[in-house]
Amino acid sequence: MKKLLVATGGGDCPGLNAVIRGIVKRASKQADWEVWGSFEALNGLMEEPTRLIRLDEKTVSGIHVRGGTILGTTNKGNPMNFPEKQPDGTVKSVNRIPWLVDRLKAKGFDAVINIGGDGSQAISQAMFEAGMPVVGVPKTIDNDLNSTDFTFGFQTAVQTASDSFDRLVTTASSHHRVMIMEVMGRDAGWIALYTAISGGAEICLIPEIPYDLKVVVEKLKGRYKDGRGFANIVIAEGAKAKDGTITSTKGEEGRHAVRLGGVCFTLSQQLKDAGIEADIRETVLGHTQRGGTPVAFDRVIASVFGVKAMELILEEKFGHLVVLKNNDYTSVPIKEAISAYNFVDPQGTLVQAAKGLGICFGD
Ligand code: F6P
Repeated sequence: MKKLLVATGGGDCPGLNAVIRGIVKRASKQADWEVWGSFEALNGLMEEPTRLIRLDEKTVSGIHVRGGTILGTTNKGNPMNFPEKQPDGTVKSVNRIPWLVDRLKAKGFDAVINIGGDGSQAISQAMFEAGMPVVGVPKTIDNDLNSTDFTFGFQTAVQTASDSFDRLVTTASSHHRVMIMEVMGRDAGWIALYTAISGGAEICLIPEIPYDLKVVVEKLKGRYKDGRGFANIVIAEGAKAKDGTITSTKGEEGRHAVRLGGVCFTLSQQLKDAGIEADIRETVLGHTQRGGTPVAFDRVIASVFGVKAMELILEEKFGHLVVLKNNDYTSVPIKEAISAYNFVDPQGTLVQAAKGLGICFGD
């Protein structure tokens, strides 16, 4: 029997379970493969005793509609910069990739499917370069992974944000208020942009277009006459004013060393200071965007990614990432996919169309 290890790493996202199910279902058609899962990314393999689970059709039955991941996940314990305790009590960051690959082989694993965003795929690439047959599956609600039209989880996050936005519109209009809704996305404004178009926002502020406060204020003033009117703003957590900085607190490791969040309060204060008299209210959607049942489109992408990832293993096309490109399910080298981020193009069709709809980006 050949053994495949599956892991889900980084932040969770709707559709992870559908990928796991897709892999297991496709693998079950092969008499010579068995699938195992590692709990909390690759930590389940690295720990002693290991925390691994045999995945069969029974284990994955019906899980494609469930949010989260049955394997659990983590941002901690990156094997490329593993925090290792030294004999003198200090903690040193060490590269445990060679050790990890040896351990995988010692435990009888022939291949790995690593499901995750940019950080996890950097680990996939490092394992591949160290001699492990690896296939990657791109995951993140942020949709910021290069080489794929969409990552799964993104559509669900947009749907969640859009539903909340609709609710804020009716209360904004009832109270003549300015409602600021903050969405996730890190350095990419995709969730904000899609939500603004879907919901019909007056203003959309994204990291790719630092905003001019004066332009935002003018747009808001134009929405009010004799104190009556209302406005709905979508702001991405990584947005900032032209001469400003991002709103953040200290986070954990790597790309997550900076924890974004709270920019809606920064903007709210800026607007008050700039003389906006209307009542302003702030809503941070936060992790609601990461939870819950995946929408149908994400279930489809995730399920197909799972099947395709297993097929890449069978074709021995290692070091590749399954992607959706030009409406076709294909694959690209992981190295290429992680070489750049997928950011919103300020000159691109979507932003221009949004402007055509009257949405102000503060530029
Ligand atoms: O990358 C996905 C994401 O949800 C970002 O949109 C957000 O900034 C970050 O993860 C939050 O991470 P955590 O759950 O570790 O706070």
